Amino acid sequence: MSATTVYLETFGCQMNELDSELVRGQLSTLGYTFSDNPDAAQIVLFNTCSVREHAESKVYSRIGIVSRRKLAGENILLGVLGCMAERDGLALLQRYPQVDIMCGPGELDKLPALIDAARRSDTATAADRTALAGNRTRRSAALSAVQDDLENLDLSRAFDPVVAGRNSFAAQVRITRGCNKFCTYCVVPNTRGAEVHRPPDHIIDECRKLADAGALEITLLGQTVNHYRYEHGAAVTISGREAPQIGPGLAAFRTGIPVGKRVTTFAQLLRRIHDEVPAIARLRFVTSYPRDFGRDILETMRDCPRICRYLHAPAQSGSDRILKLMNRGYTRGEYEAFAAEALEILPDATIAGDFIVGFPTETDEDFEASCDMVRKLPFKNNFIFKYSPRPGTVAIDRFKDDISNEVKKFRNNVLLNLQTQTSARVHATWIGRTVDVLIEEVCTQRDAQPAIGGVELRWETKAAKMQPAPTTLRGRTGGDLIVSMDTPQGANPSDFVGQIMPVLLQRGSALLLHGAFTTGLVVPQSRSISAAQL
Ligand code: 5AD
Ligand code: SF4
Repeated sequence: MSATTVYLETFGCQMNELDSELVRGQLSTLGYTFSDNPDAAQIVLFNTCSVREHAESKVYSRIGIVSRRKLAGENILLGVLGCMAERDGLALLQRYPQVDIMCGPGELDKLPALIDAARRSDTATAADRTALAGNRTRRSAALSAVQDDLENLDLSRAFDPVVAGRNSFAAQVRITRGCNKFCTYCVVPNTRGAEVHRPPDHIIDECRKLADAGALEITLLGQTVNHYRYEHGAAVTISGREAPQIGPGLAAFRTGIPVGKRVTTFAQLLRRIHDEVPAIARLRFVTSYPRDFGRDILETMRDCPRICRYLHAPAQSGSDRILKLMNRGYTRGEYEAFAAEALEILPDATIAGDFIVGFPTETDEDFEASCDMVRKLPFKNNFIFKYSPRPGTVAIDRFKDDISNEVKKFRNNVLLNLQTQTSARVHATWIGRTVDVLIEEVCTQRDAQPAIGGVELRWETKAAKMQPAPTTLRGRTGGDLIVSMDTPQGANPSDFVGQIMPVLLQRGSALLLHGAFTTGLVVPQSRSISAAQL
């Protein structure tokens, strides 16, 4: 009998991409094969995101397409994984009875059992085909057992990049799950549950295995990654192993480390990974919460050359009034103080973030405060989102969505344009400097310059477009600046992919820097090749 083929599509954030990688590895070891073509698959899985309505609409339309195929008689098993499954619960099954499986992001270790149940019997009840955290209390005693099962999913991940379905030199490692922040607009604390920290030894072990499997760059993931904190001796399982642990709450960041307790802070975790896994050429982390970002973290970044000087720390708004309604817990002044301290300790750091426009009651003056911030702070880039009321959040209950879509769209475009100018200014400061670039892909010059708002920023004439495009390489600096380079004459472009090489930055636009390989430089990373070897 031929193997069952699975199509798995991921929506939303990096956390979902990692979940999909784990699902892929787990199902591959059970004999399932994967295809990029949904028409060739007997099992179609959508790993979904609920953060904005737009992301959900895309998934509904995909579910609709597969549902129609099922109604036309095709034998497909359709599964909805992730935050939409968790948030919509059985309502989604009622709306789309063609959905066979629902699995929340905290229950993915149960997916093989759900698939088995659904395939074995047409009469499997909805309960047999769904695994959702539901209303489990955020701090229930059962949590540790549940988290232990989930921990096993991370621990048993496939370290073979082909099986895992990722490129071999960039990998992600979760350090915390869930979120305790309850920003009023955000659905994540409901769908992913309470903040839970993984034991440092598990994290380091995973980093080491990924490095052994060829990963050059590891990104540590957490919704508020800088809040990582593990108290040793507090949660040990029967087998004597350290277990995942519920986050300590805010007070821990105010009072420091209690006497007599052994704690691993985020800064200490970074240093341990940096020192204990030297084969990792680049260590990154996302997403940082702008408050409680200790000086110890910045100093560790300064002292450890392989930790990337890149901070993704969403500001969300420049208006203190709106920040308060969002329950962000900091003011614009506090955000600016955080950015100033970061740049004082790490002058080369790049700062990026997210903004939401059109939050309920946002006035022109509030919006102008966000614009002012984007004008004044050296943000490398910002993702800008229109406020989207999400069921289950505080904001949807407490505030009327009173900013029209036209105004949201207008503000989104204005802020995007300002960000484009700021990005160009930030890029200009890098021209003339030599930076290490991790080369990620070969692309043609035609697509080397990404489009802004559908308009391609290119210098080519129509006649030039008819010529075969020369090959260009594209990669990223430690600070996440995107750089393109021409392949040196006579060299094979694909030989460069996966190498870290010194590049002299020569020109730039808002989205991209362009540079040339330099010669004669000594490159510190163990896996780098010197340009002299070209
Ligand atoms: N509406 C718009 N944007 C949102 N985000 C989170 N929730 C919402 C929402 N309801 C944005 C925030 C967050 C990013 C991941 O998504 O900017 O940082
Ligand atoms: Fe959502 Fe706020 Fe938690 Fe980020 S910090 S995941 S925006 S609740």
